[in-house]
Amino acid sequence: MTQREAPAMLKQAESPYRTLRVKAQPTGFGAEITGLDLTHPLSKDALADVKAAWARHAVVAFPDQPLTLDQLEAYTLQIGAFGEDPFIKPMPGHPNVLELRREPDEKATNFGAGWHSDWSFQATPPAATILHSEVVPPVGGDTLFCDGARAYEALSPTMQKMLAPLQAVHSATRAYGTQGVFAKETAKRTLQIITSSEADKSLTHPLVRTHPVTGRKALFISPVYTVGIEGLTPQESAAILGFLFQHMTADAFVYRHKWRPKMLLMWDNRCTMHFAEGGYDGHLRLMHRTTVAGDTPV
Ligand code: SIN
Repeated sequence: MTQREAPAMLKQAESPYRTLRVKAQPTGFGAEITGLDLTHPLSKDALADVKAAWARHAVVAFPDQPLTLDQLEAYTLQIGAFGEDPFIKPMPGHPNVLELRREPDEKATNFGAGWHSDWSFQATPPAATILHSEVVPPVGGDTLFCDGARAYEALSPTMQKMLAPLQAVHSATRAYGTQGVFAKETAKRTLQIITSSEADKSLTHPLVRTHPVTGRKALFISPVYTVGIEGLTPQESAAILGFLFQHMTADAFVYRHKWRPKMLLMWDNRCTMHFAEGGYDGHLRLMHRTTVAGDTPV
């Protein structure tokens, strides 16, 4: 059994306070954690176990956590400093919380409906995103995650070698740029998006990134924010990225997260992409989101 397939019982037995239970998905990607109350600060041991489970499973869900905004902020700060959230107006009085509210009468495409890793166009993209559900629609609204590490490991050694020196070009232009989808949008959207020429800038990150905690390599690209590969023609970039996006989003590497109200979900942007599914027109969906600052990808 590999380390990332270690069963939930092992984690519980390792835990001196013996309340945390980790139920991992069969693939090891994604897990549900119970036995903790996130409305209060975690003990040192519990926090270490949460961080270890997060590193191992990349996407961790904590059901039944009725957090206030202050408690969501306090939990976030236990994981790390807040990240910087550009292009979206934060909640009044909570500059580090985004309210992802989609009203029943909204027809605009739901926010996050494209595979991406949060703010990967930043020099130091967020390590974690934390999303807390307030109102979950009765249909649709799942969040899909793909495992960039296992997808990388499934590539042939020859392909891995070819990708190793490549730098991917990241930009927010397609979404938040002056000619991006949000700039052209006319339909009602409750979420207040601020499009800007700042979004048209770009920078590069290694196409294959090494996780600072686990040491695993992962594909660090996404169809929303990766706009090319340095030194390749647009056609060459499109061919390689197109293949990789198709490969990464194969069912074998995807975990579908189904929400229940008052769930906290924390994912690792350093080795995953995610996609917010729609399918809930006519229903309210309401979430609160924070990010945790990350490092320069290497
Ligand atoms: C996002 O952060 O991309 C949104 C995810 C979601 O609403 O499920």
